[in-house]
Amino acid sequence: MVPSRRPLRLQRVPRFRGRFTLAGDKSVCHRLALMGALARGETRIGNFSSAADCASTLRCLSLLGVDVSRDESDVVIRGEGPEAWRPAPGPLPAGNSGSTLRMLAGALAGRPFPSTLTGDASLCRRPMERVAQPLRAMGAQVRTTDGRPPMTIEGGGLKGISWSLPVASAQVKTAVLLAGLQADGATTVVEPEPSRDHTERLLPAFGAALTVSGTALTVTRADLRAFSMTAPGDVSSAAFLVVAALLVPDAHVRIDGVLLNPRRTAFLDVLRAMGADVATGVEIATPEPTGWIEARSSRLHGVAIPASVVPALIDEVPALAAAATQAEGTTTVSGAAELRVKESDRIAALVEGLGRMGAAVEERPDGFAMHGGRPLHGATVDSHGDHRIAMALAVTALAADGETRIEDAACVDVSFPEFFGLLERGCRTA
Ligand code: S3P
Repeated sequence: MVPSRRPLRLQRVPRFRGRFTLAGDKSVCHRLALMGALARGETRIGNFSSAADCASTLRCLSLLGVDVSRDESDVVIRGEGPEAWRPAPGPLPAGNSGSTLRMLAGALAGRPFPSTLTGDASLCRRPMERVAQPLRAMGAQVRTTDGRPPMTIEGGGLKGISWSLPVASAQVKTAVLLAGLQADGATTVVEPEPSRDHTERLLPAFGAALTVSGTALTVTRADLRAFSMTAPGDVSSAAFLVVAALLVPDAHVRIDGVLLNPRRTAFLDVLRAMGADVATGVEIATPEPTGWIEARSSRLHGVAIPASVVPALIDEVPALAAAATQAEGTTTVSGAAELRVKESDRIAALVEGLGRMGAAVEERPDGFAMHGGRPLHGATVDSHGDHRIAMALAVTALAADGETRIEDAACVDVSFPEFFGLLERGCRTA
């Protein structure tokens, strides 16, 4: 059984059932908070994310003088436009959150005062030149520390650019577009592959004109006006509950009010192609498709996940790897070298952790090949301080013989603090 409140030990379970609603999607909430802080007026965000990462965004905005208040799951931002932002009293702490650091960098590129953005040890190992370069090209002074945080930005006097992203990144795309709102002339970003499009969906709701032409997105200077919405449940968190349901023999879960943006649900298409019994229904269409997901125990088979879909499921590769351990045949992931520069080297961490549990998985420079369908056994495994590795190992443990001990499992708080509690509830429900 799944143990008590903050479990480090898990075992095979016969059953996983329940109906769940989840705190707001992390990517959507970061953007609502940032846009609310750049806007004039009161932005109310219902069902705000419970993730430590989104709390980092709110904290940084407060340190920049933005009026942010939080009452349980509601966040209210009383924006006075970017001109009202003030130099923070010290470095801005982005914690573990790459989204906070990179997207806030874009907004700060328009501000005529110096700011330093920093984070925890994991974030300070991650690449930042990808965001520094376009912001410099727009006229901001940006310094990184050997390409990593801490990063210092002194902005203002920006001019629009046209920037082709060398690697698909929704964070960098967003940073350039947020800088573009404060620049003279048009700012265009061209994506190599489609990445999550929350910025494109939400900017018009805040009153900015954004034009889309093929893979090119263009904004011009704009004053945002406040916009309020209830954030849909986090679909990347839902992925772990869905995979738990697929792997456990007597399982049925339903997740209501969850984000169903097609640029985030590619993992569900892959799971269906693997034979998963998964259904979805959209109930709200704009600005973010929202609805329900149902998943039941399934017999899975391996599939090839090609590079072209990777940006649309980049955060779900750990959950998909857990599913692949139980899929007959081989599942391959390619074109996913970006996973090596996430909160941990996710390719290495998955190969190590799932391998210790008996999975036959081959590491590749840009992904892995999992020869699935083998019996797994409990083991002592390491999250490497990475929330999604901890959750992938935890759901795999539900299908393994014996006990699995996950070291450093508390890092799930970065995106999904309720995870172990909901897992336990699902295992207890008759
Ligand atoms: C995110 C974009 C992705 C993703 C991250 C959230 C976002 O990162 O991995 O968890 O909200 O824009 P990249 O932009 O680095 O691909």
